[in-house]
Amino acid sequence: MERNISESNAISNFNGVGDDLFNIIPNIEKARNISVVDAKELIKSEFYKNWVSKNKPCLIKNAIKHWPAIQKFRNLDYWLSACDNFDMSVYPHMNHMVKNRHKADLIETTFYDAVKRLFKNQDFILNLSRNEISETNQFSKLIKEMPDFSFLSNELKPRGYPHRRFFMYRRASTAWHYHNMDETLMCQVNGSKKVALFSPKTKRVKEISNYLTKERYLEGETLDPNITVDPIIAYVEEGDALYIPPYWLHGVAPVDGEIGFTLAYCWGSPIHILGDFSNYFVRKFHKNRFLPLNRHTFTTPFVSLYAAVLHTFYKLKGEEKTYR
Ligand SMILES: [Fe+2]
Repeated sequence: MERNISESNAISNFNGVGDDLFNIIPNIEKARNISVVDAKELIKSEFYKNWVSKNKPCLIKNAIKHWPAIQKFRNLDYWLSACDNFDMSVYPHMNHMVKNRHKADLIETTFYDAVKRLFKNQDFILNLSRNEISETNQFSKLIKEMPDFSFLSNELKPRGYPHRRFFMYRRASTAWHYHNMDETLMCQVNGSKKVALFSPKTKRVKEISNYLTKERYLEGETLDPNITVDPIIAYVEEGDALYIPPYWLHGVAPVDGEIGFTLAYCWGSPIHILGDFSNYFVRKFHKNRFLPLNRHTFTTPFVSLYAAVLHTFYKLKGEEKTYR
């Protein structure tokens, strides 16, 4: 594609910092604020009934205010004593969705050197992205510092994503993407972020999704200005958690230059969420499980039918029941 000079400048200046990521969306300035609930007033049945079961995002203030992690993770010595050292790659840029772009300029280092570099504020952007935390890996000791949520218990196992993964960074945004399964709480342990989200029921969502997730804005393309996206904006501060339902497209940018630590906590969606066939991403999910021929091909029609029946049942019931 031929680009004019101003497009080329825009692309070379793009680093995901500031409002770069959000200005791609037509009418972003008309975005609504997200619904906010306080963790003290939230119980599990209400969380499921009003948000999870309805596939609707919300900001949960003070959701993780009680976690020891908030204080401990600010300290370099904590990281050097709680985690083993190991070889890893870090990135001097934002999280890209296009693999080759994400792998560009990677820095081979060790975990200890990476955290020292982060604490020294040596790089304008530094990104230790998407590290899984499990009971058996080098980050297992982090789990006790991030113990629980007052409004969640006995969640289903996630079907695709790790139960816990973290992002540690300075000024590293995350390009537009959606989670094609599983529920997510984006927990801000340290640092603050701005997140823009929009519904999978948005008109022309397939076209918008292809544009955003393939990062075509970095190739000088723009979205049709007549597209109505109706985004929602959330400012997620330290101690808050943003509930991100599956299929909602979102872009994420830090709003400060501090060391950020975000935990993505995931669990399995209620099965009826997988049965909303009016949702383009749900249709795509089932189609991709069915074809090409694979180990899910035989079971997918039964799972799809079961999920669709459940979705209809709960819809007819007014979604008033708490269900998992
Ligand atoms: Fe995400």
